[in-house]
Amino acid sequence: MNDSPRSRDRAGWAGDAPAAASERPSAVSSPPGHDPVQQLLEEVTTEPRPRPLLDTSDLRGRVAVVTGGSSGIGRAVCLTLAECGVHIGFCYFDDGAASRADAEQTAASIRATGVRLHFANCDVRDSGQVDAFVAQVREDLGDPDILVNNAGIGRDRALWRMSNAEWEAVLRTNLDGTFFFTRAVAPVMRAREHGKIVNVTSVHGIRSEFGLSNYSSSKAALIGFTRSTAVELGDHNINVNAVAPGYIRTTRLTDRVPAEILDHARDRSVLGRLGDPQDVAGVVLFLCSEAARHITGAVIPVDGGYLL
Ligand code: NAI
Repeated sequence: MNDSPRSRDRAGWAGDAPAAASERPSAVSSPPGHDPVQQLLEEVTTEPRPRPLLDTSDLRGRVAVVTGGSSGIGRAVCLTLAECGVHIGFCYFDDGAASRADAEQTAASIRATGVRLHFANCDVRDSGQVDAFVAQVREDLGDPDILVNNAGIGRDRALWRMSNAEWEAVLRTNLDGTFFFTRAVAPVMRAREHGKIVNVTSVHGIRSEFGLSNYSSSKAALIGFTRSTAVELGDHNINVNAVAPGYIRTTRLTDRVPAEILDHARDRSVLGRLGDPQDVAGVVLFLCSEAARHITGAVIPVDGGYLL
C-alpha cells in the first residue's frame, strides 16, 4: 500500500464527505437549491452529438501566405489549405527553370481548386522582397489570416569543413526568412485580432546528427522563435506553433540524402516508414483550424516516432 504523504493527502481529500453545496466556493451565484456541479454534468451528458474532429468550414475564404510553396511540404500545405477554400499566396526561390516549372505546377493545382492565388519569386533572405511580397498578397487576396513559414534549405557539412557561405545560407534562409515574414505579417494580424502562424522546424532542431551544425542551429532557433512569438502575439488572438517533421519523402530528401541514411531513418522511426508531405500538411491544417485554438507555442513532431 502506498502510504506516501502525497497519497495520504489525496486519500484524505477524496475520502472527505462531500461538502454541502452551500459550503463550496463558487464563482457564479446559482438559484437556491440548485447544484452547479449537477448542472455541469447534465450539460455534458445532454450534448446532442459529438462535433466532427476537424471542422475546417471556418477556413473558407481565409487568406494564407506559404513560404517555399512550390515543392515538397510547402506544395502539400498550399494544396491542403486550398482544398479547404483558403486563398493562397505562395513564394518560392527562382534558381532556374526547374524551380519555375515546380512553381507553375503547384499554381495550376491550386487554381484547379477554385481559390484565388498569388505566387512569385521572393527570396526570404531579403526583407525588402518579403515586405513587397506581403504587400502584393494583401492587394491581390486580402489580409493574411495564416502564415506558414516553410521555406528552408540544408547545406550539410562537417563543421570543420563548413564554409561561411554554407553557414550563412542556411541560417539566413531558415531563420532570418521566418523572422522577416513573421514581422511583415504580425501587424496585420494584430490589427485584426486573429491569426495562425505555423513554423516548419525539424526533428533536427531537437536532436542532431553529423554534419548538421548549421541546419540544427537554425531549426533549434526556430523553436525559440516560435515560443517567444507566441508569447508576444497571444493577447491578440494569434496562435504560433511549429511542426517538426522527421524524414519526409520530398525531392530535397530523395535527391540529396544517401540511401543508407534514409534506411537508418526508417529503422529509427517506430512506425517503420518515412513520412509524406501530406503527413505534415495535415498537422499544419489542424493548427490553422479553430480545433487548435487553445494550442500556442507548441512544437509537434511529425516523425513516425523518430524522436522516441
Ligand atoms: P523543398 O526543397 O522541396 O522545398 C523548399 C522550398 O523552399 C521550395 O519552394 C524553395 O523554392 C523554397 N526556398 C528555398 N530557399 C528559398 C529562399 N531563399 N527564398 C524563398 N524560398 C526558398 O524542401 P522540403 O523538403 O519540402 O522542405 C520544406 C521545409 O521542411 C524546410 O524548411 C525543411 O527544412 C523542412 N523539413 C523537411 C524535411 C524533409 O525530410 N523533407 C524534414 C524536416 C524539415
